[in-house]
Amino acid sequence: MKKSLVTGAAGFIGSHIVDKLIELGHEVVAIDNESANNDLFYWNPKAKNYKLDICNLEETQHLYEGVDYVFHLAAESRIQPAIENPINAVF
Ligand SMILES: NC(=O)c1ccc[n+]([C@@H]2O[C@H](COP(=O)([O-])OP(=O)(O)OC[C@H]3O[C@@H](n4cnc5c(N)ncnc54)[C@H](O)[C@@H]3O)[C@@H](O)[C@H]2O)c1
Repeated sequence: MKKSLVTGAAGFIGSHIVDKLIELGHEVVAIDNESANNDLFYWNPKAKNYKLDICNLEETQHLYEGVDYVFHLAAESRIQPAIENPINAVF
């Protein structure tokens, strides 16, 4: 079985990728800190879900062990907050 990790996994694109990977039979590790101003966070209950900030290496680094694929969707996706706090949009 392939193991995939998705960042931004509760967001719009990430949550669809998690669903598809589960459908394809992958073991999925999902990380999202729910920082987006979004009422539509979706966590697939069949994934291993972690509400964490990907910038926090101490808490997240071990989650990448044994992973075959990483899908990186965690981002400040909103334009106005990125203009107001550009440093938050670097990652
Ligand atoms: N949606 C689109 O049409 C579209 C089009 C082109 C590119 N993109 C890009 O794809 C990426 C994802 O877009 P989206 O629409 O899914 O955005 P989204 O805001 O729905 O999802 C991003 C997720 O990342 C999470 N996140 C942000 N910072 C985090 C951090 N430090 N640690 C953990 N989680 C964090 C947020 O909580 C959010 O759930 C972005 O880079 C966006 O610019 C999106």
